[in-house]
Amino acid sequence: MCGIVGYVGERQACPVIIKGLHRLEYRGYDSAGVAVMHPGGGMDVFKCKGKVSDLEHFLEGKDSAGTIGIGHTRWATHGVPNDANAHPHLSRSGKLALIHNGIIENFRVLRDALRTHGFTFRSSTDSEVLVNLIEYVRESEKCSLEEAVRVALKQVVGAYAIAVIEEGNTSRIIAARKSSPMAIGLGDGEYFLSSDAASIIDYTQDFVYLNDEELAVIEKGKPLHIMNLDGKDTPVSIQKLNLSISQLEKGGFDHFMLKEIHEQPETLEDCIRGRVIPETLEIVLSGVIENKEKFLAARRIIFVACGTSWHAALIGEHLIENMCRIPVEVEYASEFRYRNPVIFPDDIVIAVSQSGETADTLAAVELARKAGAFVYGICNVVGSSIARSTDSGTYIHVGPEIGVASTKAFTGQVTVMTMLALLVGRLRGTVEEGYYHRVAQALLELPATMREALKTADQVAALAKTFTYAHNFIYLGRGYNYPTALEGALKLKEISYIHAEGLPAAEMKHGSIALIDAEMPTVAIATLDRTYEKTLSNIEEIKSRGGKIIAVVSKGDDLVRHCADYCIEVPSTVECLMPLVSIVPLQLLAYYIATYKGRNVDQPRNLAKSVTVE
Ligand code: F6R
Repeated sequence: MCGIVGYVGERQACPVIIKGLHRLEYRGYDSAGVAVMHPGGGMDVFKCKGKVSDLEHFLEGKDSAGTIGIGHTRWATHGVPNDANAHPHLSRSGKLALIHNGIIENFRVLRDALRTHGFTFRSSTDSEVLVNLIEYVRESEKCSLEEAVRVALKQVVGAYAIAVIEEGNTSRIIAARKSSPMAIGLGDGEYFLSSDAASIIDYTQDFVYLNDEELAVIEKGKPLHIMNLDGKDTPVSIQKLNLSISQLEKGGFDHFMLKEIHEQPETLEDCIRGRVIPETLEIVLSGVIENKEKFLAARRIIFVACGTSWHAALIGEHLIENMCRIPVEVEYASEFRYRNPVIFPDDIVIAVSQSGETADTLAAVELARKAGAFVYGICNVVGSSIARSTDSGTYIHVGPEIGVASTKAFTGQVTVMTMLALLVGRLRGTVEEGYYHRVAQALLELPATMREALKTADQVAALAKTFTYAHNFIYLGRGYNYPTALEGALKLKEISYIHAEGLPAAEMKHGSIALIDAEMPTVAIATLDRTYEKTLSNIEEIKSRGGKIIAVVSKGDDLVRHCADYCIEVPSTVECLMPLVSIVPLQLLAYYIATYKGRNVDQPRNLAKSVTVE
C-alpha cells in the first residue's frame, strides 16, 4: 500500500521517479507527488489527487530539474484522497520533505504534543505528523538529520517505510523501514530507492533490502551506511534481482490481468521446473527436505493467509489432509493474530502470501515464531518480509503479478501446495505410490492442461456480455472446488463491483437458495469428481426455482447441459488439480464482465495490491 521511489545521483531525478511510480501504481493510485531539489539547493513539491499520469500532466511546463528527489503514489489510510493529503509532506519550515508508506498508530498523541509546541497541520495524514516530529527533534536537539529521524522513529508506534530529504542538501536521502518494504538500488555513484525493487530494475540489479527498524543514510558518491534505531551500524548485504523488463510490461495484452491469466501455462512451468523430476517423478523442495524431521513430527499444520492466498490455503487443507494425514487449520491471518490462538511447538505454520508483505500475515508469522512453531512461507516476491521472517519456505516463482486481482499467484500457490503435500505424504508414508505417480505426472502435464483451459476464453468473453446486467452472482463448488467458487466470486467482486457470493453447493438449501430467481445467475463448478452427482442435484434445485446457471464442466460431459443454461468445458486432470483448471474460466469471466462494464481491471477502486496496513 503506497509506493515510494527515490533517487540521488547525476541523472534527472523526476523522470526516474515518475517511471518507478508508474510501476508501483499497483500499490495505490489515489494521489501522487514528487519532491525535487533544484541544483542550487531549493526544494519544490508537486502533488495532486489522481494517478501518476495526472501528476505527469501537472508537472508539464514546471521546473522539476534536479538530481535528487523522492516520489509517492498513495493508497489513502488517513484522510481522503486530495491534493493536501498527497505525499510528499513538508515540515513546518518547509525544509524537510517526507514520503511514507504505512500507518503511524500513535499519530494523534504525537500531533497533540507537537501542537503544544506551536506546530499546525495542513493535511489529515499521520505522515505530516512524522515529518514535523523529525523537524522538532532536529531543531530542539540540534542534531543531524539522520539522528533526528532515528530519535523520532523511536517514538513511533506503527508501520513505516519513509524517505526524507532536506532543503540545501543535494546529495543525501535518509530512509527507514518497519513492517513496510524498502529496497535500495545501487548504481554507479548513484542510488535508487523503492518499495519494490522490480520498479527500478531498468537501472540496477543490485539491491540492499532494509530490515525492520533500520535506517539508511544514502549519499551520492559515498558508501551506503545502515544503522539500527539504537544508532548501531548494521551490515550492508547486497542481493541480485534477476528479472527482465518484459516481465513488467503488458506484452500486447490490453491489461496486466489478462496477460497474467494467459501466462499461467508458462508460470506454472517455472513453478514446477526442477521440483518435479520428469524421469523419476521425484519431488524436490529443498525447504521441506532440509526440514524433513519437522514435517515428520508435525502435530498439526496451520495456514495463515488473507484473500486469494487464503482461498489457496483452503485447497492446501484438502491436499495435506488427503495426502499427509496431518490435521490442518486454515486461518485468516487478521483473526489469528488477535485471537490468542493455541500454538504448539510441534505445529507447522504455513504463511501464504503473494507479495510477502501483507501486514496481518506478517504479524501472524511473528506470533507463530514467538510461540515456538516452525514457520514455512509460500511467497512469490523474492526477499519479501514474510519470505525473510519465516524459518524456511518455497517460492512460487510465477514472476511479478501486477494486476491488482491475483490470478497466476493463486495457481502458483496451489501448485506449490500440491508438490509439498505429495512430498510430505511420501516422506510420512501416507500417500499411496500409484496416486503419487498420477499426481506428479499430472503436475508435469499441467502447463499443457492450462493451455487447453485457456481455449475457453472466446466462449467466456461472449458469455460475459450476456451477464453484464447482473447485480449479484452466486458461485457454487464442492470439495476441492469449493475454494475455487470462493475465488471466482472474489475475482468478480473486486474488478466488476458486482456483488458475488461463493458457497459450498450443498449449503445453498440452508438459506441462500431464497435468493434464487431469474435475476440471480449461478456459476456452478460441476466437473467430474466424487461429488459430481451431488452437485448436479444442487444445480437441478436452482433450475427448478428459475435460476440461470453457468456450469463449468469436464470436457465431453453432456449430462449437465440438460439443466444448465450455459456450459463451459474444461480439460480433465487428477481431482486435486482441478481447481487450477476450473479457476481459469472464472478468472476470464470476471475479467470480461469488468471490461464490458468499463471498469479499470488492473487498478480497481479502493484496492491496492500489497496490503501493508491492518
Ligand atoms: C485478490 C487479492 C487479495 C490478496 C490478499 C493477500 O485478488 O489479490 O485478496 O490475495 O490481499 O495478499 P498477499 O497474497 O500478497 O498476502
